[in-house]
Formats: sequence, C-alpha cells, structure tokens
Amino acid sequence: MSFDKDELRDEYPDGTVRLRNPNIELMDQDILYHLALGSGSHDLVEMFGDVKFVCLGGTPKRMEQFAYTIMAEIGHKLPCGTTLHDISQFSYRYSMYKVGPVLCISHGMGIPSVGILLHEVIKLMYHAKVRDPVFFRIGTCGGIGFEGGNVIISEEAVDGNLRNIYELTVLGKNIQRPAKLDKRLVRELKALADPEDPYDTVTGKTMCTYDFYEGQGRLDGAFCDFTEADKMEYLESIHKAGVVNIEMESLAFAALTHHAGIKAAVVCVTLLDRLKGDQMLAPKEVSDEWQQRPTKLVCRYIKRYLQMK
Ligand code: URA
Repeated sequence: MSFDKDELRDEYPDGTVRLRNPNIELMDQDILYHLALGSGSHDLVEMFGDVKFVCLGGTPKRMEQFAYTIMAEIGHKLPCGTTLHDISQFSYRYSMYKVGPVLCISHGMGIPSVGILLHEVIKLMYHAKVRDPVFFRIGTCGGIGFEGGNVIISEEAVDGNLRNIYELTVLGKNIQRPAKLDKRLVRELKALADPEDPYDTVTGKTMCTYDFYEGQGRLDGAFCDFTEADKMEYLESIHKAGVVNIEMESLAFAALTHHAGIKAAVVCVTLLDRLKGDQMLAPKEVSDEWQQRPTKLVCRYIKRYLQMK
C-alpha cells in the first residue's frame, strides 16, 4: 500500500497516543482539572480504555443529543438501571458522555476553549492507554459560497491570513504548529455522503478565526471599522483561495491532534452563506435540523467502522 507523506502518522508503534511532554510520566498523579477527572482519583484505563472515537462539539446540549443519537445508531445498551450521565458535570466547564467506544464532549467556543480541552483529552487518551483513537469535531460554520444547511468536511484549517498553522505564544516566543487533518479520513467521510441527502456534502479549506464578528468580517458587531466593499473584497479573495467555510476552532483542533499523532476530521454544517449576509436568519427549528447533518455523517462512519470490526 502506498501512502501520501502527509498521511503517515506519528504514533507509538502500538497505536497509543503520543504525549510530547516528559513531565507527565514523572508526576505522581495528573489532575485533568477541566474534565473533573484525575489519574490518581479515577481508574482511567477501566473507565476509558475501550474508547475508539472522540466526538467534540460546541455545546453541552448538542453533545448530549449526539450521545443519545449514537447510542441508538450503534445499538449500545447501558448497564441495567443506569442512564447516560455527564462524566465532567462537576467541572462546570465541559460536558462528557460515554457511549461504549464513543466519547462525546462539548468544547465550548473558540480556540482557547477547544485547546485547553484537547490538552486534557489527549492526556486522558494517554492515561487510559487508548489505541488509535479517531477525533471528530462536529460543528457549525458560515459558508463561503454555500447556503445554510450544507455539510463541509475540512481538508485543512487556515488562519485569517490563509496560513495553515496554529500560532501560540509560549514563554514570550511565537511557536507554530501545522494545522493538518487526515486526508484519508476526509475521503472516507466524503464517500459516506448519501446522494439522496437533500443537501451537499463538500470538502475544502476551512478558515478559523479568533472572533465571530470583526474577525469574520461581519458588519454587525458592536464595532466595525471597515466597509461592506472591504468585507466583500476579503471574502471573495478567500473564496478564490479555496476557503469554503469559516468557524472558530479547527486551527487548534487540527494542530493539536496532528501534534499528538491522532487521526482527526472536522465536519461542520453551514448556517448561512457569508457572501450573502452576516445574520443567522434561519428559524430555530430549521437550524436545529441542519445541525443534525454533520452528526449523521459521523454516525455513518462510526457505524461502518464498528460493523467491519
Ligand atoms: N460559526 C461561526 O464561527 N461563524 C458563522 O458564521 C457561523 C457559525
């Protein structure tokens, strides 16, 4: 079998997750503070050792719904007398549900929130000795040339300057990490789009910004120092450069999973076409139904994987 260089992963040979931090092994215990878990207080291998898929999405409610959906789809039965519960409830930050091999976690809004979560979830995978996990971000976005309701699988994440890197200031120095996603996973997900689906499923570049309003060229924030013509010139230019959607998490998600050697994909539904406006005008019931669409694709992938096992 031949591999594209970018498809080669950087995992330990046994598939367990790589931590690029020698300090963790030397610690008596590791407190995963924002998950309300710890390597000393919980048997993480017993609790999470069977995880294969980690699905992240913005809100606790959406991830709870996702947990119920995937439970029905894969026919997972909870032990008699138990119900799904939020494992990270007492962190008061993120919500986490476990449905057999699928972990469903809310990541909040924006790069700092998803970044902090990923540090702890990647460490959780390491402590739990999980092998070859696959991470998905299931989210919402603004389409660039796509109306609301279409599904977009990210080929790569770029920042507001179209750079395929996640930049972070560490000890006063800027460090850069490539924001790469798994190309084969993109193709596999795309192949699962049903021609009968009443919407398109497309792939392309995802722009990730640090802000929803000015950062995404919206004219309707509390502040705006540019004109409608400036906005359109910018959006048309990124469209020409292959950007098909804009959201606020993919850069850190792609970079941190890639750095850990974890296979990952970002699947979002468009809530509007940013070439046509800034405000979300779709009625709530409509946008609620749209938000099921990326979920359906990821469910198909997980089901297919589990059936083939
Ligand atoms: N999420 C974003 O970040 N931007 C949008 O326009 C819609 C959803």
